[in-house]
Amino acid sequence: MATLIPVGVAGLGRYVPEKKLTNRDLEQIVDTSDEWIVQRTGIRERRIAGADQVTSTLALAAAKQALADANLDPMDLDLVICATVTGDQPFPATACRLGYDLGAKKAGGFDVAAACSGFVFASQVAAAMIQSGQHRNILVVGAEILSRILDYTDRNTCVLFGDGAGAAVYRPLSEAKRGEFLGGSICMEGGAEGVLAQPGGGSRHPASNSSVEQRLHFMKMGGTKVFRFAVRVFAELVNNVLEKYGRDQIGVIIPHQVNQRIIESAMEQVGLPMDLVFSNIERYGNTSAASVPIALREAFEAGRLQPGKLVVMPAFGAGMAWGHLLLRW
Ligand code: UT7
Repeated sequence: MATLIPVGVAGLGRYVPEKKLTNRDLEQIVDTSDEWIVQRTGIRERRIAGADQVTSTLALAAAKQALADANLDPMDLDLVICATVTGDQPFPATACRLGYDLGAKKAGGFDVAAACSGFVFASQVAAAMIQSGQHRNILVVGAEILSRILDYTDRNTCVLFGDGAGAAVYRPLSEAKRGEFLGGSICMEGGAEGVLAQPGGGSRHPASNSSVEQRLHFMKMGGTKVFRFAVRVFAELVNNVLEKYGRDQIGVIIPHQVNQRIIESAMEQVGLPMDLVFSNIERYGNTSAASVPIALREAFEAGRLQPGKLVVMPAFGAGMAWGHLLLRW
């Protein structure tokens, strides 16, 4: 077998829309309270995309920052992968618009639809393509405008989510010089459409007057099931890294920003302190595929990515699909 080319992270970027939706604002919209939301989730506010923005707009801003950080020109890119479940439209892929707007004229592109695990999965695809020598410079973006599929009459879901985008540029480690890709995992338990989904608009429930009347184009979720699932797989993923590398190697855990209580419960289960975790859920809520790369960029800015130490990124969500991404910074 040919030798694999080591892969690293050359650049990171993030973008969140300016408009904030606070818990107090939500109190005016649904029967909820700042106290309930903070206690049950840790969320205080989330960002909402402007009427003139689509998902590729957010992705573009994050991508530009990641490319500048990597010191690369869009023309250097071989591939653009966009992880999203709220793309500009069902098809064509949002990555095609993103590549066009960036001016990445030599790049191919496609989307990855894996909900909250999207960035973690897409990064592993990118890394494998660089390892094999097929491509050299790959942009991976996680971008979502969840506010467009939220039902603002459903307090079970609308308080939890927000909009944003995060990006990473992967290159051979010899050029990236940091963030060595050590591997990850991609797992699923299918048949869980009833737990967390946007039911309408696909072949199961095509758009119709009836699908609109039944509000099937909005996100539906059984929150408690997701809660239990998330704690279980989060703990399992971190335990696997602990067993293989040991406690001292772990520099920071950047989980999918799902709910502060989920993060705390999982950390308690694995017996690790909360100060190992980077969390920004308070400010952005759950931004699905964008959550890990936004937090990764912010952890980088905060000096939380320690040279030589592991960056562990567990993610989990609709599917049910979960997995992790592991870097050595
Ligand atoms: O990326 C994966 C996406 N999924 C998630 O992020 C969701 C994961 N799950 C969760 O975060 C939690 O399950 C929730 C935050 C959604 C709910 O927390 P919980 O502790 O599991 O509460 P619960 O579902 O057991 O609901 C408790 C009560 C219910 O009232 P009753 O039936 O006991 O009278 C709900 O109706 O809280 C009520 N409730 C609310 N009250 C005020 C649910 N949502 C709200 C709300 N404001 N926004």
